[in-house]
Amino acid sequence: MSVRAAVLVSGGGTNLQALIDAQAAGAIPSGEIALVVSNRAGAYALERAKRAGIPGITVLKGECGSQAAFEERLEALLAEYRIDVIVLAGFLTILSAEFTARHPGRILNIHPSLIPSFCGEGFYGLRVHEAALARGVKVTGATVHFVNEIPDGGEIIAQKAVDILPGDTPEILQRRVMEQAEWILLPRALETVCASIQEGTV
Ligand code: GRF
Repeated sequence: MSVRAAVLVSGGGTNLQALIDAQAAGAIPSGEIALVVSNRAGAYALERAKRAGIPGITVLKGECGSQAAFEERLEALLAEYRIDVIVLAGFLTILSAEFTARHPGRILNIHPSLIPSFCGEGFYGLRVHEAALARGVKVTGATVHFVNEIPDGGEIIAQKAVDILPGDTPEILQRRVMEQAEWILLPRALETVCASIQEGTV
């Protein structure tokens, strides 16, 4: 039986699209994208889910009233859709230590740098690439890691390096990191984790 994955999103969902495309190409044989949850109304990722025939649900923290109530709603959805593994793909809310402790080795995140560089609280979106350019590093990349109570601090699953080129802007670099690293790495990492869950080795 394939491992059921929920993808949590907040925005455009290009990483979600990479997962959907990989699934369609047969590259995630051990897993199945069974649910997409957005914490932003109208996120384009929801449109991608719809087109792929995957249930897409919006859960707004503001409407839930508190982080605890928001996470309770998430837990209810995970149970309803019999989710085994959670993928954070551009999900711009930090999950509480209580939530992550309930799902050890079952939550993956994609971060657009080579952790431990340019990561942790406040490093998200373009800010990560701005910081890499400001520091003058010549190589950056992306990391898929398990999520624990430390932002971007969980065990690393996979990394891929990407060159920084003269004239790069944060936007140009962001795009290159997505194309050359994120969209390749995330589907592969999900398959690896799903296969391990199936084999019972994690
Ligand atoms: C990606 O850069 C990802 O690494 C980061 O947020 C961005 C999400 O982009 N966590 P998208 O919504 O998948 O297009």
